[in-house]
Amino acid sequence: MNKKFYIYGNWKMNLGPAEAADYGRCLAALLDEHPLENSVSLGLFPPALSLAALSKELKNVTLGLQDVSCHPSGAYTGELSVAMLREAGCSHALVGHSERRQYHGETSQLVAQKARACVEGGLIPVVCIGETLQQREAGQVFSVIEEQLAPVKAALPDDAQWLVAYEPVWAIGTGRTASALDAAAACAFAEKLAHVPVLYGGSVKESNAAELFAQSHVSGALIGGASLKPKEFFAIAQAASSVK
Ligand code: PGA
Repeated sequence: MNKKFYIYGNWKMNLGPAEAADYGRCLAALLDEHPLENSVSLGLFPPALSLAALSKELKNVTLGLQDVSCHPSGAYTGELSVAMLREAGCSHALVGHSERRQYHGETSQLVAQKARACVEGGLIPVVCIGETLQQREAGQVFSVIEEQLAPVKAALPDDAQWLVAYEPVWAIGTGRTASALDAAAACAFAEKLAHVPVLYGGSVKESNAAELFAQSHVSGALIGGASLKPKEFFAIAQAASSVK
């Protein structure tokens, strides 16, 4: 049986609408020329303003944004609601990315509220978790995973559809990847707690993707830097497509 792989690109604050349209055309051409196995599900999380331009060029790719409000509407300047994301064509949203936790003070409680808002409103949340270098060095990898997942699990019904992205903070954008075995151990632990597929994130690129995807509890990747070029992103997807 082929494992299902989620290959998701988080563009962060990169690629405006014109670049997103070029990207969409390029990726669509690659997908036409070299179709991926059905076991691979591709997803992109562009900046909100680039979503329409991207979705116009690219069909059959999961779309989501990088954050979403926990509120349904109202006086929340700058925020976007679950209903707005859905209307714009999103099926997913990232919640609790470490950059949101770090630069915007998002707590695991708020992340849980956002995840619940998604599930209640019909979006699939991709809940991002992961330890800092300091926490890893203090031997706290598993307790951090447990602490970050607990409020989310408590907030969601048992049959909720969601995903987890395990992204050790020290591996994000640094070129340092967790070893495939460390990534697998953390993903396996998170999967056991959450009972949903767990993606790995943190400096995933073409050269390390195959080894990560060969680990039985790594169900895909959340890719930042290497998702910004359609060819690189596609090459990572091909690595997932070739896993037997
Ligand atoms: P990176 O980012 O691949 O550039 O390390 C991953 C992420 O933050 O989702």
